[in-house]
Amino acid sequence: MRDPRYDILFEPVKIGPVTARNRFYQVPHCTGLGWLRPRMVAEMRGIKAEGGWGVVCTEYCSIHPASDDLPHPYASLWDQGDIRSHALMTEKVHEHGSLAGVELWVGGARSANLFTNETAFGVDCRPNTTGVPYHTRAMDRSDIREVRRWHRNAALRAKEAGFDVVYVYATHGYLLSNFLSALTNTRTDEYGGSLENRTRLVREIIEDTKEAVGDSCAVAVRFSADQGGGGDGNPVIGEHREMLEMLAELPDLWDINIKDYSREMGVSRFIKEGSLEAYMSYVKSVTTKPVVSVGRFTSPDTMVSQVKRGIVDFIGAARPSIADPFLPKKIEEGRLDEIRECIGCNICYTGDSKGTPIRCTQNPTMSEEWRRGWHPENIPEKGSDSTVLVIGAGPAGLEAARALGKRGYQVLLAEKEQEPGGRVARESRLPGLSEWARVRDYRVQQIQSMPNVELYLDSNMKADDALATESDHIVIATGATWRADGLGVYTHTPIDEFGPAEQVFTPDDIMAGRIPKDPTIVFDDDHYYMASVIAEKLAADNVPVIFITQEPIVSAWGDMTSEQSRGQRRLIELGVRIITSHGLTAFDGQRALIGCEYTGSEQSIDAGAIVTVTSRRPNDRLFHELCNHINGDSDCAPKSVTRIGDCEAPAIIAAAVFSGHRYARELDTVVDVDARIKYDRVFFEDG
Ligand SMILES: Cc1cc2nc3c(=O)[nH]c(=O)nc-3n(C[C@H](O)[C@H](O)[C@H](O)COP(=O)(O)O)c2cc1C
Ligand code: SF4
Repeated sequence: MRDPRYDILFEPVKIGPVTARNRFYQVPHCTGLGWLRPRMVAEMRGIKAEGGWGVVCTEYCSIHPASDDLPHPYASLWDQGDIRSHALMTEKVHEHGSLAGVELWVGGARSANLFTNETAFGVDCRPNTTGVPYHTRAMDRSDIREVRRWHRNAALRAKEAGFDVVYVYATHGYLLSNFLSALTNTRTDEYGGSLENRTRLVREIIEDTKEAVGDSCAVAVRFSADQGGGGDGNPVIGEHREMLEMLAELPDLWDINIKDYSREMGVSRFIKEGSLEAYMSYVKSVTTKPVVSVGRFTSPDTMVSQVKRGIVDFIGAARPSIADPFLPKKIEEGRLDEIRECIGCNICYTGDSKGTPIRCTQNPTMSEEWRRGWHPENIPEKGSDSTVLVIGAGPAGLEAARALGKRGYQVLLAEKEQEPGGRVARESRLPGLSEWARVRDYRVQQIQSMPNVELYLDSNMKADDALATESDHIVIATGATWRADGLGVYTHTPIDEFGPAEQVFTPDDIMAGRIPKDPTIVFDDDHYYMASVIAEKLAADNVPVIFITQEPIVSAWGDMTSEQSRGQRRLIELGVRIITSHGLTAFDGQRALIGCEYTGSEQSIDAGAIVTVTSRRPNDRLFHELCNHINGDSDCAPKSVTRIGDCEAPAIIAAAVFSGHRYARELDTVVDVDARIKYDRVFFEDG
């Protein structure tokens, strides 16, 4: 039963010629699938509609081969083949009564056309802004006419593909926003100079799109509420208000975001729910058209508050819809405790960054809807009456137990600590990472409601204890331990001269409360968030910190999750001394010897302690002991012993959750190891 307080979220809202069945709006987000994997993307978006999202949009969608963004797998609407691919999605979205939206996109200085080899065009001749050593060709009037024609034709193709909402994408540093900005638009013709001139192309494209498809499709504009430059969280609205006023009534819907992408899509370490509100304050007052905005909304109370206070009409969501495609339905059915809340880790974004299928820490079924047939809420019933013992209640063990329990198996889940959660429980106590605990909380909550899953805490199982349970299957999810010998990504062997042991620390020590007092080196040969967070914690505890990394920047892999720059900034602000491009050769308790990655020249750094954030070892002793029992043909041997998660191979939390989920799905099924998953490919010939 729905709580009447949330009724407002389920009101239909008119958007020009179409009507959304509720206020839940999945804003455009990439999937790492794009034009390359049409069936995977169609199934995934269809499931969001099934989960209650009233509007479901594509990722950014190229209008013409003159705008491509490989290696990032954008969508495209170039030809009949693309129309048929997109129709797969729109049909699935329509089956559930939702609207399908497409974000038509023109790259400009942010796309170098590395796939099509067409010269990229821009508002002016400018360097590519993504680090590719190319420039754009300055558009002349005929180019502008061509872009308008291509956009119009793409809108017509969108309509043919069945889309209900067609976007004009005028933000995020792409072509149209380059025209709007006084910084990038240095033209002297009727498209440059005055505010009116700089908004001209956006206006023309909105009008073209309305004229082409506006009879049956709503025209939406994605636009930044601010002009940027005000420092973190301090909006400088500047001329963006005037621009919005000038265009206010032209489109059917405003999709509003902000200039600072690291806030708009910020990781939870730095940015919390609803963080765009200060930027949005004026938007609804200058237009009568419906407004959607974002803010990693997972709390229905926050959503209602935003609508009631007139900040937005639609609750826009990318990540919350990825973590829980059924979020609207769960609110509608009063199942709030079943919501799988996004943890703000941005692993989903690495799919786009790396050009690979999207995955999610909280939702292991992301990208697997079509190729493995995994549904985020439904799971086949158990295949036998087997009992399962899961040892370790970290992310992998919890997810395995939850999904096995949902299938109907009798499950014992044993955890040696006094609390469940494993690494997410420990890591969530580090600075900024409190939302990591949602990985644990969602699963514990689910397990508690399952009579067939028993969780035993403080239960340090040995091989004999495990066998004594006489479980049919034993799953080892005992996690991994950080190494203290310096072996890491680039340091291929343990460091010879390293010690004394009491002055060498690992992240596990820090998380367990063993904190150094002397000036401390944090040596990062892992390159994700952990070293940076440990350095932050020590600095906050007034320990002088020297951060040393072999990469040229702090937490290099954080670029993939768009948190790198904020992480580095945080350490600078905390007074951490940062030494990049240096490897560690030795540490004797008083000083470390480090070497330059480029020249090999060595220098000595005084420090009384070192934290090695390098790599981890699986805690797999129990697994091997139990395997010996199976191999020894013992009477009480279980049918299978399987290791999952970090115990199998240490990785990110998302991989551990996936591993646990996969174990549960595959138990008592026949898996053809030679054809484990369906392989999606572009399968429509150009018509
Ligand atoms: C994986 C991912 C891909 C995204 N791709 C796009 C995109 O193609 N076009 C776009 O306008 N915004 C894109 N965004 C930004 C989102 O639309 C949204 O503005 C942002 O994620 C904040 O919303 P949220 O807090 O609900 O995630 C993407 C965000 C994510 C997480
Ligand atoms: S990967 Fe992380 S940030 Fe992205 S949706 Fe999932 S939980 Fe949220």
